[in-house]
Amino acid sequence: AAFGFWVWSKGMREQLLAAEKVTAIAWRDGALHLLDQRLLPFTQAWLAYDSAAAVAEAIRLMVVRGAPAIGIAAAYAVVLAVRARLVAGGDWQAALEEDFRLLSESRPTAVNLFWALNCMRERLQRLKAGDDPLWVMEQEAVGIHASDREANLTMAQLGMEVIRQQQGNAQPVMTHCNAGALATGGFGTALGVIRAAHVEGLIEHVYADETRPWLQGSRLTVWELACDGVPVSLNADSAAAHLMKTKGITWVIVGADRIAANGDVANKIGTYQLAVNAMHHGVRFMVVAPSSTIDMSLESGELIPIEERDGCELLELAGQRIAADVPALNPVFDVTPADLIDYLITEKGVVERPDAAKLVQLMCRKRLH
Ligand code: MRU
Repeated sequence: AAFGFWVWSKGMREQLLAAEKVTAIAWRDGALHLLDQRLLPFTQAWLAYDSAAAVAEAIRLMVVRGAPAIGIAAAYAVVLAVRARLVAGGDWQAALEEDFRLLSESRPTAVNLFWALNCMRERLQRLKAGDDPLWVMEQEAVGIHASDREANLTMAQLGMEVIRQQQGNAQPVMTHCNAGALATGGFGTALGVIRAAHVEGLIEHVYADETRPWLQGSRLTVWELACDGVPVSLNADSAAAHLMKTKGITWVIVGADRIAANGDVANKIGTYQLAVNAMHHGVRFMVVAPSSTIDMSLESGELIPIEERDGCELLELAGQRIAADVPALNPVFDVTPADLIDYLITEKGVVERPDAAKLVQLMCRKRLH
């Protein structure tokens, strides 16, 4: 069954907050500011957004990426849309539907986008006479952002405790894609656990997969961890099995974009083959994701829409053609079956070997913070 031991150590929380060095989303002076993740690690440029259409485009182009971060950006985009529709006058709530549609079409796989849009829509429907719609909706978006940050802290502590229960000393771990501060409202899901475990002396080294083709590992994850002084190195995705066999890796720790009701996990392409390899090598497999990533409306992972991006992400490198003249297939997520997952860490608690019944139990629980 889902279990939730809860040892909240105040000192730990403060240490974790001090480790929050990178942020990628800021709501300031009535505009959404996004750190342009296409330019990292060499250029740290912030772009300001004042319309929902522009935020939808930023999500599509991956200025902002990572499931929770996409949801947070979309929530703030609704605030921008409310402001614009109120100024335009008329039936502003009906006109907002166009903004919801645009935002919901920006990327298909990460369910946090649709979850955040639903939260905003529900809040809109609960407006009362005399409410200031703009203020109320802004508070809702700020709340979504703040609660994701809290969820990161809770998951970091829970995941670290799971690792501590199983090993007494520092061990090497592997991660895939970027599930860190750049992908969330706080200091990360998978990288949050890794950061907390590092603070507790449980991480000897992080092996980060480069994450072809967009290179979230090379450009984002190793940069984030290096900023925090966590020992990390970069490897080709195809080196993963070899490294598991030769480097004594004890955990693979990843995030998620959508988790179906039976515990199947959609995450960055390459996660599935990591889980298969982990099972073969006796490496434990941990998925860290807030409950906003769990989609109880989909019975299994087969129903999760998998985004296919432009083949040029594979055929070109830095704008330079690198492949012969053939078409490229570019599915950017895959689905790891629940039976390959040892632990699912959420802010509502820990699920060991997730399945449909355990997820129902988990989703009935309150958040632990
Ligand atoms: O295409 P991306 O970069 O948005 O994909 C991101 C991932 O797959 C992450 O692992 C996932 O969103 C978890 S982020 C906390």
